[in-house]
Amino acid sequence: MLVCVPDVLSKHDVADFRRIMDAEQWEDGRSTAGAQSAQVKQNEQLPPDSQTARKLGERIIKALTANLLFISAAVPLQIFPPLFNRYRPGQFFGEHVDNCIRGDNLTGLRIRTDISGTLFLSEPDEYDGGELVIDDYYGSHRVKLPAGHLVLYPSTSLHMVTPVTRGARISSFFWLQSMIKDTHARRMTFDMDNAIQSLVVRLGRNDEDVRKLTNIYHNLIRYWAEL
Ligand code: NI
Repeated sequence: MLVCVPDVLSKHDVADFRRIMDAEQWEDGRSTAGAQSAQVKQNEQLPPDSQTARKLGERIIKALTANLLFISAAVPLQIFPPLFNRYRPGQFFGEHVDNCIRGDNLTGLRIRTDISGTLFLSEPDEYDGGELVIDDYYGSHRVKLPAGHLVLYPSTSLHMVTPVTRGARISSFFWLQSMIKDTHARRMTFDMDNAIQSLVVRLGRNDEDVRKLTNIYHNLIRYWAEL
């Protein structure tokens, strides 16, 4: 399931992120790649343990945890500290798998990667190419979103970033462990939450059937969630 979450960051925040990032030293992106992906990765990234990356990452996590669409789609247990990358002309990230387990040196946090997220920090007209291509059961999806918007996709998917041919593609990316491990179960709770939210608009939160469905929604989360 691919989910787009619009306006995680405001345009004002994006401009602030870009100003801070532009002043930093970038390093070869292969330092965080696994054995398979290192062979197909050509980009730059902010040093993951740098103060700048950590502070910007904390701002992203704060914005995410206040975003109801994100919470409903991801049901996050732990969010890995976000990373930041940049692709300039000729750079790309060929088809690869994300590591199933990730550990963080600084905090000791260790997660199972259930969901991957890319938060776009360049506007689509700032660069050519640089599309995120995600393969899932329903085929291949090409994603290029406005700055401040996020796409979530299962970490189980093969994916790639096509070569940039003009400008610079700047983004943040992260992984998270969901309380609901199973991607199909997570899809059902997300769909059900969306249906309940539109019923609430039509019938009000205290309608008897809305109340029953809300109870079932919570019981499904209770049934599937692992903390
Ligand atoms: Ni990846």
